[in-house]
Amino acid sequence: MFVVASAPAKIILFGEHFVVYGEPAIATAINKRAQTTAQKRQDNRIYINSFDLGVSGTFAENRFHPEKGGKKAQTKLEPTHIAVQRTLSLCRKEQTGVNITISSNIPVAAGLGSSAAVAAATAKAVSKLLDVQLTLEEIYQTAYEAERYVHGTPSGIDPILATYGGVLLYQKDKGFTKLTVKTDIPLVVGDTGIKRSTGKLVTKVRQLRQKNPETINKLITNAGKITLRAVEAMKKGDLQELGELMNINQKLLAEAGVSSEPLERLIHAARKAGALGAKLTGAGGGGCMIALCTPKKLIQVAEAIENQGGKAFIAEKTDEGVKIET
Ligand code: PMV
Repeated sequence: MFVVASAPAKIILFGEHFVVYGEPAIATAINKRAQTTAQKRQDNRIYINSFDLGVSGTFAENRFHPEKGGKKAQTKLEPTHIAVQRTLSLCRKEQTGVNITISSNIPVAAGLGSSAAVAAATAKAVSKLLDVQLTLEEIYQTAYEAERYVHGTPSGIDPILATYGGVLLYQKDKGFTKLTVKTDIPLVVGDTGIKRSTGKLVTKVRQLRQKNPETINKLITNAGKITLRAVEAMKKGDLQELGELMNINQKLLAEAGVSSEPLERLIHAARKAGALGAKLTGAGGGGCMIALCTPKKLIQVAEAIENQGGKAFIAEKTDEGVKIET
């Protein structure tokens, strides 16, 4: 007997970085998913195999036994291990052993929330295997715990979208509000392939703000206004306006020092190929950019990004959060 569950990736549409200073941000779950297969074992060990990370091994009696990937395997598999342990504990089946297999079509370490999606899918698969119906809040909390191992103090955007799906407005002191967006948001995501550290980029903005408080505070306030205008544009289904707002948001991010030459190259290529707007998404530095397009321009824009050395894929927002596949 085995159970397969999946959960979606996310992208930030507006407001990254500025959200750290209390302004609102908009993020959406997208139709790229991580899949976890869970199976019971005869013993109480936890075996985890991640095809995409190329690592596997067994957690038993507080020790890790690598199978593939050597010592690094433990660090890479620990968030999933945390998700399994927490789920077993919520189900009051701490002594149950499970085999976990992960496969995902979400690019890793690109700011798309792949680790949170894996954790949410794992919690869903393991609980279903044990015939326990966890609430979405419990799954979110489990994925958040796993994220804490990866990011220290995560905002919670990744695990909440992996769990609930949809489009969310997020603000530090107000939490998450689900946005009802009737229109599609056709996007091309372009990955520069350059790894970056979210923490370092957040620090970079903080330092720039310390040196130039007036200028950067103005940027932060303006970014908040752009995000709120984007909420209105989404409600109206006005993609043209949404694209313009993305371009302005990108300028503000560049002024905050988190864009980069490879990101700018992909952003300009996308706009030139007919995108309605384009910006970096997530922490910046490297990682991914997004381009908003009318459906008939999607392929053209994806090709333009690839021609500039990016890895492109077409994405659409999804309302489907974590779910059982079989
Ligand atoms: O690239 P990501 O998904 O790690 O996004 C980072 C978003 C920031 O606003 C830069 C940081 C944060 O915690 O909100």
